[in-house]
Amino acid sequence: MNHFNFKNGRLYCEDVSIKEIAEKIGTPTFVYSSATINRHMALFEEAFQDYPHIFCYSMKANPNLSILAIMAKRGWGVDIVSGGELFRAMKAGIDPKKIVYAGVGKTEKEIHEAIDAGIFLINVESEEELQTINKIGRKKEKEIAIALRINPEIEPETHHHIATGKKGTKFGLSFQQAKDIFSKSQELKNIKIKGLHMHIGSQITSIKPYEEALNKISDFIQELKQKNISIQWLNIGGGMGIIYKEEIPPAPSEFSKSILPIVQKTGCKLIIEPGRFIVGNAGILVSKVLRVKKREDKNFIIVDAGMDNLIRVALYNAHHEILPEEQKEGTITADVVGPVCESGDFFAKNRQLPILKEGDYLAIASSGAYGFSMSSNYNSRPRAAEVLVDNSRCYLIRRRESYLDLIQGESISPRLVDIEKKRKLF
Ligand SMILES: Cc1ncc(COP(=O)(O)O)c(C=O)c1O
Repeated sequence: MNHFNFKNGRLYCEDVSIKEIAEKIGTPTFVYSSATINRHMALFEEAFQDYPHIFCYSMKANPNLSILAIMAKRGWGVDIVSGGELFRAMKAGIDPKKIVYAGVGKTEKEIHEAIDAGIFLINVESEEELQTINKIGRKKEKEIAIALRINPEIEPETHHHIATGKKGTKFGLSFQQAKDIFSKSQELKNIKIKGLHMHIGSQITSIKPYEEALNKISDFIQELKQKNISIQWLNIGGGMGIIYKEEIPPAPSEFSKSILPIVQKTGCKLIIEPGRFIVGNAGILVSKVLRVKKREDKNFIIVDAGMDNLIRVALYNAHHEILPEEQKEGTITADVVGPVCESGDFFAKNRQLPILKEGDYLAIASSGAYGFSMSSNYNSRPRAAEVLVDNSRCYLIRRRESYLDLIQGESISPRLVDIEKKRKLF
């Protein structure tokens, strides 16, 4: 499994023992494998090497500066959705000419920042947004390069919370709206429409919905050509699924083999925005068993990670494999739960696991994407540490939060001054 292997019965990430990391850094801690990230990037690079393209890693999957620095080093750009993501990308040394910016609710401030940073394309999701960008472009006396995000209205066969390319979701423009925009684009003097964008959803394990959506977009591009409108870039988004349990997602080589003939017909250069595929199986969440609670009807393995660290199980009913740090004889059937005060705070239900006892470490697999990035301070729990392994070395790439971090930026209202005085006593 992706550079997370057992050696002499103990779990390793590349050449570093998980136990060593847990003892040095504490738990819960996300551990990422550089070799796995690089291998996943190489798979995409090989699959698309014969077609003009740029890769824009979707950094919402995992925006740690070190992960972004790996992207920058390999010449990848990023797909962003906020001013905060732009800030991180610039700090990590991503080339702004390879940054694309999606999202239905960009603020004027964020649009200004993106233009000032000189990003490649703003992916526009509504006519209203287009008018705002045109207005900002006029003020700055600039022509702003954009792509129109199309909602191709297809069924991507994934969890409904992460299906974005179907009818009724908030994302993108209908074909008719896009057509209307092109017909009045002459009026938008400070806009240059360079591309079309789609992103149909996440954790998609079949090529079919991509083919379906791309065929629709390709027909639309042919229609535009007949009106002498040419589109240079086609952004097909991300969403390529990974193995959490028994899924059989296509490899990037199969994916490219199926979609490139459709893309080729458009004559457009390609933008691809994988997120989960690159980092999902490159990370684990290492946690410690706090207690094994036995009840008449059930066993509970209570661990020190919770839904605040990894919300995917509570939010999407997602499956994550659970690995012991040490392989042992015998099994126990139990719910693996966190310390958060919610019944939804669990990682597995009625799962058969190797015998685990208080103080043992375990790893929640496939936690590299939408793990730390969706984490919170719920129940006033400091966020986890993050560690990047590179062969036999490991680096702390985000220190664990402290209690002081929890109240950073907060203050007590002057009207509650008595409380303030009391607080000073401590
Ligand atoms: C516009 C856009 N591109 C790419 C992605 C990446 O998706 P995934 O991580 O499934 O590859 C997302 C995820 O939501 C997205 O919104």
